[in-house]
Amino acid sequence: MHAFLAADGCEATLLEELRRTHPGFHQAQTPGLIQSEFDADWNQSLPPLVFLRQALFQAVPLKVDSIRLAAEIVFDQLVQVLPESQPWRFHCVAHYGARDPGSPGARARFTQARFRRTPDPSSPEANKTADAGQHRCHLIEEALVELLQRKRRHLGRQRVDSTDPFATTESFVQLLLTSPTQGLLSIHLAPGPSRQPRWVVPFQKGDIPIAVDKAAPSRAFAKLVESEIRMGRKIQAGEFCVDLGAAPGSWSYLALQRGAHVTAVDRAHLRDDLMDHSKLEFVQGDAFNYVPSRMVDWLLCDVIAAPERCAQLVIDWTRQKRCRRFVVTIKFSGAADLNAIQNLKRELAEVCPEFFLQRLCANKNEACVFGAIV
Ligand SMILES: C[S@@+](CC[C@H](N)C(=O)[O-])C[C@H]1O[C@@H](n2cnc3c(N)ncnc32)[C@H](O)[C@@H]1O
Repeated sequence: MHAFLAADGCEATLLEELRRTHPGFHQAQTPGLIQSEFDADWNQSLPPLVFLRQALFQAVPLKVDSIRLAAEIVFDQLVQVLPESQPWRFHCVAHYGARDPGSPGARARFTQARFRRTPDPSSPEANKTADAGQHRCHLIEEALVELLQRKRRHLGRQRVDSTDPFATTESFVQLLLTSPTQGLLSIHLAPGPSRQPRWVVPFQKGDIPIAVDKAAPSRAFAKLVESEIRMGRKIQAGEFCVDLGAAPGSWSYLALQRGAHVTAVDRAHLRDDLMDHSKLEFVQGDAFNYVPSRMVDWLLCDVIAAPERCAQLVIDWTRQKRCRRFVVTIKFSGAADLNAIQNLKRELAEVCPEFFLQRLCANKNEACVFGAIV
């Protein structure tokens, strides 16, 4: 069985999205979790899923009556399958149907609390439950480390604690507690995690912390940072970026911070210090009419427009090879249109097989499409 954690408040949409390509998915008892038995070639890259946060492949249900027992079960499973001389990562997290207090998705939790009959997940009781779950996870992890030290020291030393993209040699072990006494254990062997960056994220439960920079002109900054993290590729010094719909300028600000050159296109001016920056050229006009004179390293586009227009823009830019890489926001007008999303997935896959299309932790009612064509 495979288990899939949805972006906050998006399990129904994720279920529908998954069913468009693979039948047999169903909602698990735990809110936010979807299960399936479907079979796929796990070494092949799987298509992007907008509303997915984290996949737990080959997940096995466990009864974990005590911390000690949980650690022993995980230990027994690990030593049977993990290669002794290869690195692996371990996440042990609680998901009792509510996200942890303070984690990304507070907006969605608020909406959930208003429209569902589940207890308000930001209430003190729910916070206490989530805290208790996290504490239990911490104790299980400690007990596992202690077992490894006593019985399989070499394997214990191969454990990597990192949020960098998975290396081809790294396996990924996830224990997701769905209640104080029940959980799911997923052991995803190398090179699987490195082959599925769109489904398997090296952050607990797929929650990437929202970047904060008080000096940036707006919070939109966080979307570009998160896209870079997911791609495992930052904008680099000396690269050329076109930033469409750039004002007030936090995407341009980040690109400039990285040492790139920026052509910023907007009807409105960016913040004064950015307008004066020696590496920024400002073009006042319509983002949809702008065509660069030569191929640029990055298309950045955060224009608020109908989703089909932004989708068409990214298809045109990539088909006509106007950019090597791109990060483009696709706003949803109300509910996400899964037909439009499917069309974008199909058309973009022809030019750029490994692109991401994801409702980011930093997104509100929108998603971002990003990737590279070379
Ligand atoms: C969400 S804001 C962009 C925020 C920006 N990425 C940042 O980090 O500060 C959207 C911008 O798109 C611009 N915009 C919307 N439609 C546009 C168009 N057709 N041409 C140029 N700019 C447009 C708006 O003026 C606005 O500044």
